[in-house]
Amino acid sequence: MLRLAVFVSGRGSNLKAILEHPELKNLIEIVAVFSDKSDCGAFQIARSYGIETRVLGKGEGRISNENLLETLKNYKLNLIVLAGYLKLVPVEVVREFENLIINIHPALLPSFGGKGMYGINVHTAVFNSSAKVSGATVHFVDAEYDKGKIIAQKCVDISDAKSPEEIAERVLRVEHQLLPEVIKAFAENRIFVENNRAIIKS
Ligand code: GRF
Repeated sequence: MLRLAVFVSGRGSNLKAILEHPELKNLIEIVAVFSDKSDCGAFQIARSYGIETRVLGKGEGRISNENLLETLKNYKLNLIVLAGYLKLVPVEVVREFENLIINIHPALLPSFGGKGMYGINVHTAVFNSSAKVSGATVHFVDAEYDKGKIIAQKCVDISDAKSPEEIAERVLRVEHQLLPEVIKAFAENRIFVENNRAIIKS
């Protein structure tokens, strides 16, 4: 079983997609869900599955950046998944878990990424660019926002989209397919970095 931690900040639909994916049931165990928001929807989903929730940040009962690496090591994790997590992961965590942290981004990187590019901001930028395709990207996490090597992408046609919200809806549907697919490939040891590229072997 692959031991996973999931980092979240919001409603948790990607977390739910992972938890409900039939092919992941025997492959992974989510041992903890971390969030910078103590009252997010994702925490309710985690708790309904009996998964431990941990709040990040400063203050009583929270895990500070300074303690995060030690905490994560104690879970003996095989993979960390950022699923709608809005903060940067501390650099010492990124270094220790090199190529073991993945993020889902709701656009086709390397376009429409970086600081401030989250949630509806991304889809508004895509809409205003008049792009005809958007999609979801799963990539390795490094010390910068949305810059790590791209592992997998799925496109959606947005040529007839009438609003950023409509793009968000279409992209979210493919996010829910793509993220579990990449986690499955990870659990099956099918992800490699070769020739400077991250690839999934079948
Ligand atoms: C998703 O669009 C994800 O790609 C982005 O934030 C959103 C989180 O949605 N980074 P949810 O919390 O998984 O529902």
